[in-house]
Amino acid sequence: MTIWNLGSINADMVYALPHLPVAGETLAANGLQRFLGGKGANMSVAAARAGGQISHIGAVGSDGCWARDRLTEYGVDTRWIAEVDQPTGHAIIAVDADAENLIILFPGANHAITGDQLGQALTSAGSGDLLVLQNETNAQVQAAQMGRDLGLVVCYAAAPFQAEAVQAVLPYLDFLILNEVEAEQLHAASGLAPSDLPVEHVIVTFGSKGARYYRRGSDPLAFSAYKVNAVDTTGAGDTFTGYVLAGMDRGMPMEQAIAQAMRAAALMVTRHGTADVIPDLQEVRAAQLD
Ligand code: RIB
Repeated sequence: MTIWNLGSINADMVYALPHLPVAGETLAANGLQRFLGGKGANMSVAAARAGGQISHIGAVGSDGCWARDRLTEYGVDTRWIAEVDQPTGHAIIAVDADAENLIILFPGANHAITGDQLGQALTSAGSGDLLVLQNETNAQVQAAQMGRDLGLVVCYAAAPFQAEAVQAVLPYLDFLILNEVEAEQLHAASGLAPSDLPVEHVIVTFGSKGARYYRRGSDPLAFSAYKVNAVDTTGAGDTFTGYVLAGMDRGMPMEQAIAQAMRAAALMVTRHGTADVIPDLQEVRAAQLD
């Protein structure tokens, strides 16, 4: 089976800072590195590294061919990534000495995906394939509707969080993943707690406090996080999601897919960077984690 990912592709400019800047502050960085990123691209790479078969639907500008090539090198099917007349999306990411981050996004080409492009890609999908969306591209509702009509398992990672964006796709979802704060925001906006959402599978992540899985009609299951020395949490949530999706796609029981994703995310926060440093299955299995 295949995971179809309507997802963002960014150039991540990651600045190492002594602390996160406050309004009006000018601050010199201790270092700068460029990575492939974007929540979409990070999830595609994570799913590929977890052994999933993944087709990415997205867009880059003429300045972003390196990003498409890198995704191909990482084992992602990039035939559905268009080159458009817009600059490639980018993110300015500040990471401080305590592994806290701050992200400024420029969407660029990520908001130039056409309905035709989406339709052409998804007509190649088979019933039972997974479709994943996040909130960094345009065409999310159209894709979710198409996915539902085509019999795909429709998954949504509610980041960056906007209550209206989640509520617009909610009727089409089979799987929703969000963090603790996002779950509270969605509860406040919709009146629905995770266990009341009309979605078969819901995962709420709690960072260093673990995750909780809600299957409709069953008691929630709690997963503990591993204790690691975090240096950069950027992309850890995307890594977790990509690993869960790959597990689902490979027919693993959800509990097993989540347990593996917890290990992958724990390893990811010990590394600086985004898509390029996402651990593969062998590293995840071999890691000594407590
Ligand atoms: O979740 C991390 C990602 O958020 C980064 O790669 C950045 O591009 C932003 O999309």
